[in-house]
Amino acid sequence: MTEATQDILVHTEAGVTTITFNRVDKKNSITTTMYAAMADALAAAQADASVRVVVFQGDVAVFSAGNDIGDFLQQPPATQDAPVFRFLRGIAGFTKPVIAAVCGPAVGIGTTMLLHCDLVYAGDNAAFSMPFVNLGLCPEAASSLLVPQMMGYHRAAEALLLGEPFMAEAAQEVGLVNRVVPPTECNAVAQAQARKLAAKPLSALIETKRLMKQGQAPQVLAVMAEEGASFGRMLREPAAREAFGAFMAKRKPDFSNC
Ligand code: COA
Repeated sequence: MTEATQDILVHTEAGVTTITFNRVDKKNSITTTMYAAMADALAAAQADASVRVVVFQGDVAVFSAGNDIGDFLQQPPATQDAPVFRFLRGIAGFTKPVIAAVCGPAVGIGTTMLLHCDLVYAGDNAAFSMPFVNLGLCPEAASSLLVPQMMGYHRAAEALLLGEPFMAEAAQEVGLVNRVVPPTECNAVAQAQARKLAAKPLSALIETKRLMKQGQAPQVLAVMAEEGASFGRMLREPAAREAFGAFMAKRKPDFSNC
């Protein structure tokens, strides 16, 4: 059984399961234990016929700083059964609607997980970034496939090669975000949309989502597995070691030898 954690809160009410990042002091960076808790919560929501919608939310000032770098260094995901990959397969294959409410930084998987959400609402303080290259790594969560499809190649290259943050309005323009709202209203907007969806016939929601995604589902899983293998290998290589060591030591990385 997965270790219990208060860093992920799971609450189900009126057909809506809400999964909340609750590790604000560490900018909601995600540990192995948190991935396991989210994977378990998704599996439970998938299996529970009374659950119709899942909402992911963070804090008004931060959605998630992505992988917990120290935790990743200590226990890099070694196999496809690692909690991070279980979570990614769970969200990518989730058959019911998934909504995200995003305020503040959404780094790495904090952004790429949104590619697997059906509706995304962002506070006007949201800042999205996929700085994998800056960490000596490669994209994950099928972002190497889905980001170019969504934004077009050149904007995707800017986001994935430079890894610089882009704000909520730019995210809305490229189609990652449905609506930009004041940060204090973001979670409430997501919940209101969830309630609307929860009142609709579940079988029609599931079939509509399946039809929209079916053409790509096998490719998404295949790309995710290939990215995961590269990501796992690159985590142990000099560039990532230098990037992560620099982050822990609060200094600039030096990639002159990588
Ligand atoms: N892993 C582990 N700890 C993290 C973290 C991460 N990804 N992101 C932030 N933290 C920790 C910081 O080490 C710091 O801890 P401390 O108080 O013990 O020193 C605390 O969270 C606050 O972070 P800080 O950087 O001071 O906050 P900020 O508001 O100045 O910046 C971010 C917020 C998210 C922009 C910045 O923390 C950041 O860039 N984090 C790294 C993101 C990243 O590279 N993620 C990996 C993607 S694969």
